Amino acid sequence: MQEVYLNGDFLPADQAKVSVFDRGFLLGDGVYEVIPVYGGRSFQLLGHLERLQASLDGVRMNNPMTNVQWQTMIEQLVERNGGGEQSLYLQVTRGVAPRDHVFPQGVESTAFAMSSPLIPVEYKYKKQGIAAITLPDIRWQNCNIKAITLLPNSLLKQQALEAGAQEALLIRDGYLTEGAASNAYAVIDGTIYTAPKDEKVLPGITRELVITLAAKAKIPLVEQAVSLNELKNADEIWLSSSTKEVLPITTLDGAEVGNGLPGPIWQQIDAHYQQYKKDVDAWQ
Ligand code: PDD
Repeated sequence: MQEVYLNGDFLPADQAKVSVFDRGFLLGDGVYEVIPVYGGRSFQLLGHLERLQASLDGVRMNNPMTNVQWQTMIEQLVERNGGGEQSLYLQVTRGVAPRDHVFPQGVESTAFAMSSPLIPVEYKYKKQGIAAITLPDIRWQNCNIKAITLLPNSLLKQQALEAGAQEALLIRDGYLTEGAASNAYAVIDGTIYTAPKDEKVLPGITRELVITLAAKAKIPLVEQAVSLNELKNADEIWLSSSTKEVLPITTLDGAEVGNGLPGPIWQQIDAHYQQYKKDVDAWQ
């Protein structure tokens, strides 16, 4: 039986209960993290915990635990769920209070964590790439906060799926921001472009690693957003996320990207990424 963590206790998933007055349930008032686990160890944990703190600060919510407490709890949760490969989900909400837009006073936040199977990226997607469509970025002005309020992202991703694609690439004011559940990259004339870290994109942990790996591979990378037109003419397009790693997008809005196959720069970055995953001592 899957075990979850809720407010200080580990318990079977079907026994974990949250009040209907929880602000996460009523108002979507919470933040979250998704962390992959390889060989029983959580990947880039420090980066995820730092981003969790930044998200909590962004919504003026207290962190219910120190980083050491999070780390200890996560190690136990991973072990209780059998080690190996897992996908961890952490969520903090503002807690249980009578419904009101205004923040409640003196209320403890709700801390929840669960483990799910980490579904490996299908080989065919790495071999052939995936399809994406462009859609207007209908999200709010604080996309740097990893908020649980994912209705726009969900609508966008569903629209992509119904169009036969796996991801929606989002366009704001004529420029690519990111994917509905991923960061996005365009390769133009040998340079990798990804939108800068501001309130229009989530500061992806995988994105940070891609930047490090590109420097290591001596491939130029610029933190600059590309226009829709530049995107449509890019030699390569990729996405990245903790669960999807770095994936090539070979069809955009029904048209081939480059020659329609995963490109050579993606192949280099992916090789470095796979190598890094094996180098457990290098993880933060
Ligand atoms: N999402 N941008 C958005 C909007 C995302 O939802 C995600 C990840 C990313 C990539 O961030 P990272 O590399 O830190 O995973 C970028 C997770 C996986 C999710 O919501 O399930």
